[in-house]
Amino acid sequence: MKKRSAAKPLSENKHLLRWVDKMVELCQPADIHWVDGSQAESDALCAGMVKGGTFIKLNEKLWPGCYYARSDANDVARVEDRTFICSLSKEGAGPMNNWVNPFEMRKKLRSLFHGCMAGRTMYVLAYSMGPVGGPMSQIGVQLTDSPYVVVNMRIMARIGLPIFKEIDKGEKRVVPCMHTVGAPLAKGQADVPWPCNKEKYIVHFPETREIWSYGSGYGGNALLGKKCFALRIASNMARDEGWMAEHMLILGVEDPKGEKTYVAAAFPSACGKTNFAMLIPPAPFKKKGWKIWTVGDDIAWIKPDAAGRLRAINPEAGFFGVAPGTSNATNPNAMASLARNTIFTNVALTPEGGVWWEGMTETPPVECIDWQGKKWTPQIAKETGAKAAHPNSRFTAPASQCPTIDPDWEKPEGVPLSALIFGGRRATTMPLVYQAFNWSGGVYAGATMGSEMTAAAAGAVGKVRRDPMAMLPFCGYHMGDYFRHWIVMQRKLSETPRIFHVNWFRKDAAGKFLWPGFSENMRVLKWIVDRARGRALGRETPIGWVPRYEDLDWTGLDFPREKFEELQAFDRSSWRTEVMSHEELFLDLHDRLPKEMIYERELLICRM
Ligand code: GTP
Ligand code: SPV
Ligand code: MN
Repeated sequence: MKKRSAAKPLSENKHLLRWVDKMVELCQPADIHWVDGSQAESDALCAGMVKGGTFIKLNEKLWPGCYYARSDANDVARVEDRTFICSLSKEGAGPMNNWVNPFEMRKKLRSLFHGCMAGRTMYVLAYSMGPVGGPMSQIGVQLTDSPYVVVNMRIMARIGLPIFKEIDKGEKRVVPCMHTVGAPLAKGQADVPWPCNKEKYIVHFPETREIWSYGSGYGGNALLGKKCFALRIASNMARDEGWMAEHMLILGVEDPKGEKTYVAAAFPSACGKTNFAMLIPPAPFKKKGWKIWTVGDDIAWIKPDAAGRLRAINPEAGFFGVAPGTSNATNPNAMASLARNTIFTNVALTPEGGVWWEGMTETPPVECIDWQGKKWTPQIAKETGAKAAHPNSRFTAPASQCPTIDPDWEKPEGVPLSALIFGGRRATTMPLVYQAFNWSGGVYAGATMGSEMTAAAAGAVGKVRRDPMAMLPFCGYHMGDYFRHWIVMQRKLSETPRIFHVNWFRKDAAGKFLWPGFSENMRVLKWIVDRARGRALGRETPIGWVPRYEDLDWTGLDFPREKFEELQAFDRSSWRTEVMSHEELFLDLHDRLPKEMIYERELLICRM
């Protein structure tokens, strides 16, 4: 076992050095590597992974600076049933989170982590969520035995030397993050391309602001700055400090006058955030001067400024985006973002050393190797239904490479928000768009949001579940208290953002999407922005304000009035069912449900 002194530390912070020593003693790595974050270091790590079989270097001419990884088939998505919020009291975590007594969990983790890094290198990875040194930014240090995690985190966050410098100032609390793939190597034992463990634990200690992740190397389980820190731990910080940590994209809408309006939108995992954040307006809109600017595609940290306006930053620096369905037709901005310096995980590999996934091109490649390393052809797919790419396969791409990245995307104080949007994946009931009557009505719409489950998490795909504010898997404390925090936030504002609900996924009787989506979502977004600026009309319904057919700009799209009416239809009997499932959610949260939610439900029922 090597002591910290064996590797040259990049920090002089005594607390950090002592903690690293302690964790080295616990995990017993063969080596220690302080991550400086340089290109040369990243290149060396990638070369090492190519040698070890974790990475395949893609064709440099077609995919410059890109690498390809295939995960273990048992490690392909977030594991919500293995994710724990270990607050001191069970009540603190609430009924929506898995809870284990923190003392017991610590005991369990100590035994799991004991010797867990044998034969591997422990990387000391310092990172900042948000621009380095910014007033809303936060710092973490992740100790990990996965070089794959290090090079992914280098894209997803600001890492390395500048962060150690921040830590050495000693001004900001650092969130300690322990991560192991849980696959120690005995002397002489050969490694596998994707080490992981069948047993998985994704654990958060909200009071001490700690994260411990065991057994997985994939996505939100392992890139601890993302869901673990920027949502679960940060939601606790935010509640205590009067701000908000949300599962939201942030975008700016530039109108023909050149005025910009920023909105943030919460859609559950794999429900369209990346696509919406990078929307390209339909041609006639572009011609008139409408333009969308991207600030973030997954997480927003939101705080009232001195003037009482909500401001938002994107704490991340990259996109960890869903690959399937991403194409030059649906999301050219994502395609440009991932054209170079990108890591692809669990997509398919083409014979010329490129990547492919379902929906990337209209005609699939004649042959490729699927995400499990097997030969795949369109014929095999027809016969067996085998997917070339895993439904939750992803690209890790630098945000700076997005052609529509907002000039202010790294502004430390964030961008001002004029509207908030909630939306789920719903085949029925939910209209294309409605606007809540006011803030508490909007909080109700977000709190009672439902969505069909997707491949982003292990579990049953397609089942509608309540996913309040798209935060069900990410809220680090009691959901009832979280609703209350939302209600309370409004009191600090001089300008209240308008709140909307959208659904791009309503289907007709034949099971076909009623709405074309993607670019065409601009038509809805324009109405939202115009409403927020008080320059568009709508019609009052029991659930809120909705656009009439003539309130949307249909230039360039042949979308008949009858189809729009079907899309917007308010069906009393399905809303009856809907409201009953709101009640079920509220029963679960009963002890800590804010009164406002009960009143809003009553009002809704009365209006219906
Ligand atoms: P996470 O990264 O898991 O948080 O997902 P996300 O919310 O960013 O979802 P993303 O934009 O990656 O979209 C997920 C899937 O939904 C992709 O397969 C998209 O092609 C599809 N999708 C996105 N927007 C639309 C839309 O407007 N209409 C339809 N029908 N599908 C869409
Ligand atoms: C999500 O599932 O919402 C994601 C992907 O953004 S992950 O980082 O794996 O959580
Ligand atoms: Mn997400």
